[in-house]
Amino acid sequence: MSIKPVKTAVFPVGGQGTRFLPATKAMPKEMLPVVDRPLLQYAVDEALAAGIERLVFVTARGKGALEDYFDIARELVDSLKAKGKTAELAALEATQIEPGRMVYVRQQDPAGLGHAVWCARHVVGREAFAVLLPDELLWNPANPPLKEMRDAYERLGGNVISVLEVPAEHTHRYGIVDPGVADGLVTEVRGLVEKPAPGTAPSRLAAIGRYILQPEVMDVLAAGKRGAGGEIQLTDAMAEMIGVQPFHALTFTGTRFDCGDKAGHVMANVALALERDDVGPAVRAWLRQLAL
Ligand code: G1P
Repeated sequence: MSIKPVKTAVFPVGGQGTRFLPATKAMPKEMLPVVDRPLLQYAVDEALAAGIERLVFVTARGKGALEDYFDIARELVDSLKAKGKTAELAALEATQIEPGRMVYVRQQDPAGLGHAVWCARHVVGREAFAVLLPDELLWNPANPPLKEMRDAYERLGGNVISVLEVPAEHTHRYGIVDPGVADGLVTEVRGLVEKPAPGTAPSRLAAIGRYILQPEVMDVLAAGKRGAGGEIQLTDAMAEMIGVQPFHALTFTGTRFDCGDKAGHVMANVALALERDDVGPAVRAWLRQLAL
């Protein structure tokens, strides 16, 4: 049986962003810039690079700026045109998504990541779909991570999640894989545990916010079982799919920035600025001075 391409991506963007207060008091954390683009734009670009056609944003109260961001800002475009600001116009155009490809679903209750994903079930339908957590900036322009996962999925079928080895003392922060047989970057998943207590993790392979999942996970999530932190966890629902469907982890080979964390967000800004022709030289020169 041929495997159908993954066409839908779900972006859970309902989180309150309390770690970034006060910045997030009046603005969604997904709009925090990394150099000059909002964090969410990086995840959207990654999805588009993987051939995703339908973008589903699971939003919440106070997240209206996200919808405005993907609109055409007609007055702004007209005024930039009148002033001949072609570079700025091009920057806007590069973020424009065809009408009808974005869907916004509201998560009415902050009941966890699994619940957020489940809120998208009617839009996802009965096809495999991707989930991208925009807090996790996975940087590998030469080989965009979701595209790499999609290629693995088209070979392996079932479910594919992106993982990275984390230090043992950090495993309690993540969904952790109980690994089976490994073949290069692909590891069979025998079990998954959300935020294991220190010293109890089955490995150091952590889920880093990219998933390609079968629609049956929605049926599991529908039960609304509460897990770690009293929340409906995506990890727990995925764990129930293991053994029923193929389940693999693909080790990410690029650079990961945890932009849900202040230090990670600052590092992403510095690292991506250094790669840019416009701001890179000034930032590099300043960093050299600091190092003296
Ligand atoms: C979520 C997931 C966790 C995953 C992590 C990656 O946790 O529940 O399994 O490892 O994202 O960032 P959160 O960071 O929302 O607590």
